[in-house]
Amino acid sequence: MNIVICSDYAELSAKAADILEAALKEKPNLVIGFPTGGTPVGFYEEIVKRQLDLSQATAFNLDEYIGLAADHDQSYHYYMRHHLYNHVKIGKWYVPDGTAADPAAEGERYEALIKEAGGIDLMFLGIGTNGHIGFNEPGSSFAGRTQKTPLAEATIEANARFFASKADVPTEAISMGIGTITDAKRIVLLASGPTKAAIMKATIEGPVTEEVPASVLQRHPDVTFILDKAAAAELSNE
Ligand code: PGA
Repeated sequence: MNIVICSDYAELSAKAADILEAALKEKPNLVIGFPTGGTPVGFYEEIVKRQLDLSQATAFNLDEYIGLAADHDQSYHYYMRHHLYNHVKIGKWYVPDGTAADPAAEGERYEALIKEAGGIDLMFLGIGTNGHIGFNEPGSSFAGRTQKTPLAEATIEANARFFASKADVPTEAISMGIGTITDAKRIVLLASGPTKAAIMKATIEGPVTEEVPASVLQRHPDVTFILDKAAAAELSNE
C-alpha cells in the first residue's frame, strides 16, 4: 500500500496525471478505469493540459446513473465528454448504459467488454464519505460484478449539489462491482478535502470490512492512495 500525501489539490491532480503519463509511456494501449465526481476534475484538466496520448488506450468508467441518457448533463457519459473526451484523442471509451432496458444484461455486457480488452491495467478511484468506491455502498459484497445497485442516502445527499434538487438525483446506478474493481492490476485512489479525512482513516487503518467498501483495497497488491493534507489529517502518522 503506497500513501502519497500532497500539499494541495493541484499537487494531487498532477500526481495522478504523472502516474497515468508514466503508465502510457510503458504501455500506449493501456486499459484504464476512470471515476467521476468532483475529485478527479483537476486530474482530467491536467490530462488535457498535458495532452496525454490516449489514442491507443481503452477506458472504462466505473458507473452510470440508472435513468439518465448519455446526453443528460448529469450523466457520466456527459461528464466524461465534457471533462476529457472532447479535449483529447481516446482510442475507445465505455460507460455503462444507464438507460438499458435490462440492467443485469448491461452489467454482463460491460464485464465482457472489460474482459475482451484484457482487463483493467490502471484503475483510478474516488471515494464517498461513506467509503463507497464506484457506487458500491456499505454492505456491498467484495465479490460483486457490474450490476444495478441502489444509492445510499448519504450519496444522494452528497450528489444533490450537482442537480437542481435532491429529488432529481437518481436513486440507482449501474456500477462495476468491488470484484470488478479489485481485478484491476493497479489501483490509484484520490481523496481530497476535510470531508474525506475520517473515511480515509477507516479505509487505510481500520478493519477490512464490507461496511467500509474501500477497506478492501488494503488487500490489493498494488494500490496507491493519493491524498491532500486535509484528507490525510486523521491518519496516525500525520
Ligand atoms: P466526489 O465523489 O469526488 O465528488 O467527492 C467521490 C465519490 O462519491 O466516489
